[in-house]
Order: sequence, then C-alpha cells, then structure tokens
Amino acid sequence: MEGDVYYPSAEVIAQAVLKDWEATAEFARNDLQGFWQKEAEQLEWFEPWEQVLDDSNKPFYKWYVGGKVNITHNAVDRHLKTYRKNKLALIWESEDGKFDRTFSYYSLNREVCRMANIIKAMGIVKGDRVTIYMGRVPEIVFAMLACAKIGAIHSVVFGGFSVDALQGRIADSQSKLVITCDGSLQNGKLVELKRIVDDSLRHCPTVENVIVVKRTAHEVPMEAMRDHWYHDLCALPIANGKCATEVMDAEDPLFILYTSGSTGIPKAIMHTHGGYMVGTYTTLKYVFDISDEDRFWCTADPGWITGHSYIVYGPLLNGATAFMFEGGPSYPYPNRWWQLIERFGISIFYTAPTAIRGLMRFGEAWPNKHDLSSLRLLGSVGEPINPEAWKWFHQVIGKGRCPIMDTWWQTETGAFIITPTPVVPLKPGSGTRPFFGQEAEIVDEEGKPVADGAEGFLVLKNPWPAMMRTIYGDDARYVSAYWTKYPGKYMTGDSARRDADGYYWIIGRVDDVIKVSGHRLGTAEVESALITHPAVAESAAIGLPHEIKGQSIFCYVQLNPGYATSEELSEELRQHVSHHLGPIARPEEVRFIDKLPKTRSGKIMRRVLKARAQGLPEGDVSTLDD
Ligand code: WTA
Repeated sequence: MEGDVYYPSAEVIAQAVLKDWEATAEFARNDLQGFWQKEAEQLEWFEPWEQVLDDSNKPFYKWYVGGKVNITHNAVDRHLKTYRKNKLALIWESEDGKFDRTFSYYSLNREVCRMANIIKAMGIVKGDRVTIYMGRVPEIVFAMLACAKIGAIHSVVFGGFSVDALQGRIADSQSKLVITCDGSLQNGKLVELKRIVDDSLRHCPTVENVIVVKRTAHEVPMEAMRDHWYHDLCALPIANGKCATEVMDAEDPLFILYTSGSTGIPKAIMHTHGGYMVGTYTTLKYVFDISDEDRFWCTADPGWITGHSYIVYGPLLNGATAFMFEGGPSYPYPNRWWQLIERFGISIFYTAPTAIRGLMRFGEAWPNKHDLSSLRLLGSVGEPINPEAWKWFHQVIGKGRCPIMDTWWQTETGAFIITPTPVVPLKPGSGTRPFFGQEAEIVDEEGKPVADGAEGFLVLKNPWPAMMRTIYGDDARYVSAYWTKYPGKYMTGDSARRDADGYYWIIGRVDDVIKVSGHRLGTAEVESALITHPAVAESAAIGLPHEIKGQSIFCYVQLNPGYATSEELSEELRQHVSHHLGPIARPEEVRFIDKLPKTRSGKIMRRVLKARAQGLPEGDVSTLDD
C-alpha cells in the first residue's frame, strides 16, 4: 500500500467481532439485500418485512417494507428481558463534576415511560412533531426515546442555536409541543434556553405546551397553561413508569433534523424507525466493535446527527453503556476529558478533529497526568482530520495501541458511510473505504468518473437502510438537492479523491455549507441573520480555513445609506448574528465593502471574496459585473 500506513495489531484483530473485512465486503457487494436482511434479523420486529428493499420509485427508496417495529423497543424494551436489565445504559456527568447520574436499562425504561406518558397527556399522538431544545442532560435522551416510543416525530434543535434558528425550525415542523430546560451551562456560564424558547414562541402559533426541565437555579418566567415544570408533571399519577410501545411501520418517520444546505432555509432531513435503526445498529457494531463490556463515549451533542446516531440510538441498540458529558473539552482545565476517560473507564472514545487540535495546543502533560489504559478504540468525525492531529491522537491519547476510526458521513446518511473497521489498515487523514454494501465514486462536473488521484465530486451509488427518506414536507427539494445533478446517484456535496489503494480522501464541501468546529452551518443562514440588522443592505458570508476550528465564518457587509463603517459596528454585527442565529455562528470577522462582487446575473462571487479575504490572487474575474 502507498503512503503512511498503520496496520492493526494482532491484539486488535484478535478482539474484533468482524475479522474478515474483505469477505464481508464481498458478500454485501454480491448480495446487498442479503447483507441488510441478515443485520435486520439481529433486532426484534413485531412483524417481519415482506421486502428488504423497494426501489421501484427511485429516489424514494423503502426498506423493510411491511415490517412492524419500534426503535425504542430495540434500544430499551428488548434488553429488559435479558441480563442487561441491570446493566448500565447511560452514565452522565455534570459540567462542574459535582454530580453524576447513572441509569440501568431498567431505570432508563422507567424514565422513558414517564416522559412518554407525560408527552401523551399533552395531547401528542403518533405523527405529531415535538421540538426538543435542551442542553446535554439525561432528559434529552429520555425525550427522544419517549417520542419514538409513542410514534411522535422528534425534532431536536441544538442548544447552541438561538432565537431565529429555533423559531424557524419550530414553525417549519409545526410542532405542538416544545421540551426544553430552564437553562444550560457552558464553561460555567448560563445559557438561557427557556428565555430563547419564549422569544421564539411569539411567532409559533402551533405550540400548545412547553415542558421545562429544571437544570439551573435561576428564575424563569412560566406562562400559565402553556409552560409546565417537568418535575411537577412527574409527580402526577399519569407519569408512571409503564407505557406501551407503539407499533410502527418500518417506514414511519422517527425524527426530522434540520441541516444547512447551500441555499434557503435549513432542510428537515427525515429518518425512519426501521432503516435508520438497522443502519445505526450495524455500523456501530462493526466499526466500533462494540460489545457488552464497552463504555462508549461520543463527545458530540444530541442536537446534531452524530449525537442522535451515536450517543443515543446506536449504543443502546447494541446494549452498550453510553457515556454523556454535559460540558466541553477544556473547562475548567484542559484535562477534563482525560479525567473522565480515567474515572469512568471509557473504552471507545469518538470525537472531532477540532477538539483534538484544540487540546493538542495545551500539550501532552495534561493527558499524561491520567491513566488512559481503558481505551481500545478511537474515532473522529465531522471534518477531515489533518495527519498531525491524527498522529497526536493516536500516539498521545491512544498510546499507539488504539486504531482511529475516521468516519465520514452526514445528517442525510444517518450512519457511517466511508469508514474503516478495526481490522482495516489505516492512513492518517483518510476514512479508508465505503462501508459494507456501499460503493462511492468520484466524478467530474458531467458525472464521469475521474482517474484515481484526481479531485472530483463524491457520489454514492447504492441505497442504504439509514438513508434519509425525504426532506419533510418537500419531496421535490429532496429530489433536486440530492438526486438530480447525477441521475441515479446520491450527491454528497463533498469533494474528494481516491488513491491507488481505493482509499477515499475527503477535501471538503463544494457548496455553501461551512463547518465551524465541526458544526454544520449555511452561509445563507448567517446572511439572513445579518440582513435583519438595520445597517445591513447586503452581505456575503464565506468560510475561511482556521487552524483549530477547521473553518471560520468571515462576512462582507454592504451598508445602507446613512451608516458609517466602524469597529463598533463590526462588533455589533457579530453580536447580532450570535444573538439571532446562535453563538456557534458568530462571525470571526465582519468587514465592510462598498459593493459586493457579483456576476452579471447577480450572483455573489464568493470565490473572489474568499481570495480577497486571504490576500490571494482573485483569479478570473471576466464574469464580474462592471
Ligand atoms: C463533513 C456529520 C471528512 C463532510 C456526521 C460532510 C467529514 C459533512 C467527515 C456532514 C470525516 C463528516 N472526514 N469530512 N470523517 N465527517 N464530514 O451533516 O463535509 O453535520 O458532508 O454530519 O461533514 O456534516 P453533518
């Protein structure tokens, strides 16, 4: 093999559930449906499916057609009949480390049932949407599983988003119920989630009830009839620990999750009970080699797809123990994560390149203070990992013993797509090859495959169970955004190249999606936040390379007449975006411009702005208007 290659040790191979990668890949290549049939059979179905895959109406693929199932039944209920009943399902620690909470599968089930009964009592029935806007507390897990249990569709909004983002997502989903917290803690500071909910609901007439989980000690206004403290509801007789699990069709929606696309409002990506369940279960089982003894820690937030699939559903479907931490990597000190790995004996640790780069800066002394010998596998997700960060992670955290699973996937794919398993030789910076049953291709503008080594657009050729089914309420946009440019193939929106060994190297997004510290944001969202400020006539947001964050947001703003450029105004506009869209979207820099460069048809030339912002040559500007 070419380049820098890390082969799995004999010890890793001995432990791996799946030893022969090639044979499994070969089986799935020859019998895609057979592979996914065998995996689905590992889970419990109320009624079996009649057909594994129905591709008669592409790209509206259906999986496990006719099957009856419920993901919560498989993530929780099913374990109660086994020795896992008394095994830990979830361990949680607060940001300040003052308390932790643990839940066996038995007690998790009681919590989920209580929450489910409460949600039902709010008039929520199968198919209704419920918006969940919380910090990283155990109740967010209960809320998601409870919605799934009764057939409601959850729509989780990341707690780092603010008023406009939340309001837009509640309004689009027409949720009747919002579940939130009074506040959340971030680096010791209070984020007033409930206040943001109150502001958002001024324009969301569909919301009838708000459930508020108490997490902080600060006072929040409660609106009579609409707002209810969760602990008060829990004291009512309806909130008992028993609740029947709804029988769902395999293709019934499980959740929607809003994600940024190139243009317009964020898209409501829809996933289902059956296929998503089989996809997250199978990928986690093979890629992270998960078993009963594992304590799996995914550092993402449940508000993103990584948290949905690999904090909540994947680990529980596999009967593992999931660990969730309320805080971030370096508060109060840069050893916070390493301390937790040691204290809880984490065996599999899955995080993001931006966090690794951030922690690298503090030096080896911090991790070296801790016993990290419980670790056996590491993982990375969210953006390409630079080889320097890969090697530090491998050496300093994994002590050269733990393979790194660099998993490429998307909100839309629901589960890992390009990823190694522990027995696959690794190259730092590459997610290796597509998962079983998948085939990827790198194509040019016209859709023709490019030669190995050349850069092109990454497309996927085969359907897979955890694939999105549609954009909720907008089938036409689903087809046009993903399936039209390269007919019959799924367009990922990423550029990549493939090397001579068939390994894929992701380069980045080719659309207007920005990845800031692994968070997926759209330039359009930043621009629509800016335009609500009276000084702004027009703006353009672009993503620029950033040493730690991967990318950072940089904005050019054209002012309305009567406004003068100043440092203060620039800062005010950054604040404005942070307040409206969320602190994660706060621009690194806002610069003023007399006139945005546009093509004759009126399209902003972001390429020119990107070059200008970095002091690089602006290239071909022949299409520029005057
Ligand atoms: C990027 C996150 C390189 C990619 C799961 C993709 C990655 C987008 C990787 C999806 C990786 C994700 N290596 N790039 N291992 N994982 N990406 O929807 O650009 O938040 O299209 O899903 O993240 O972001 P999303």
